[in-house]
Amino acid sequence: MKDQIISNAFKAVQSTILQRKTTKVLANDPWKPTLDQEEHNELISTLLHLAAHAPYHYKSAERHKQGVLNSSLPFRAYTLDAATCRKLAEQLKNSQPPAGKILNMLWAAEVLLIFTWLPDVFGEQPLERSMEPLPFTGNLRNMEHIAATSAAITNVLLGATASGFPNYWSSGGALRQQTAREILDISLDEIMLGCLFMFPKDALERGAEVKPGKLRNEGKDLHSWSKAVEL
Ligand SMILES: Cc1cc2nc3c(=O)[nH]c(=O)nc-3n(C[C@H](O)[C@H](O)[C@H](O)COP(=O)(O)O)c2cc1C
Repeated sequence: MKDQIISNAFKAVQSTILQRKTTKVLANDPWKPTLDQEEHNELISTLLHLAAHAPYHYKSAERHKQGVLNSSLPFRAYTLDAATCRKLAEQLKNSQPPAGKILNMLWAAEVLLIFTWLPDVFGEQPLERSMEPLPFTGNLRNMEHIAATSAAITNVLLGATASGFPNYWSSGGALRQQTAREILDISLDEIMLGCLFMFPKDALERGAEVKPGKLRNEGKDLHSWSKAVEL
């Protein structure tokens, strides 16, 4: 690549993107947090700022802007510090469906950021929901709401990686379900897209089970998924 493109800024971004990888840390018991309250707040707010600077195309529908979280962004984020993760684990210990490995990750997490996206819905909606509005309408706006939320999530994961926190994008498992949603006070009108676990910087040195992403090594051959358009 030409010299002017390989700036230090590019190298920093490139290095962060190449370093980012799924790191699932499964603690056997609740870990003591490594950050104090102020540091937790700072980490969370820094990561949320990165999310807020991601591109997005369409505003969320009016129905999603009625409460305290009244932003036009097509997603919402719910943040838990380490102490809250431990409390959540305690409350989910005997829940149905079983929280399984989510409990081990809640015991390890330094911070958890839960991202939902706000679907445009059509027709009469139930007054009370027991599950998310799935399947959602497959139109362009909803596609782009999800895309925007994913862009925000990626910013967060890159920020966590650059700051040295091993991280993991989980679909949420039991956290998607009614029991957890009521505990977390996350409306089932919203659709969970990512539960982002950030683990302590020294997580890999503690002897806990650590799992990589199953598909980590797939798709690295560019020719298997891209081609030059020739006209
Ligand atoms: C939308 C989305 C949801 C994911 N949900 C899960 C999940 O629930 N469980 C899991 O093990 N990995 C999950 N992952 C992580 C992928 O397994 C991981 O990104 C993939 O194996 C590639 O590995 P890498 O992240 O290290 O590059 C998810 C990733 C994305 C983008």
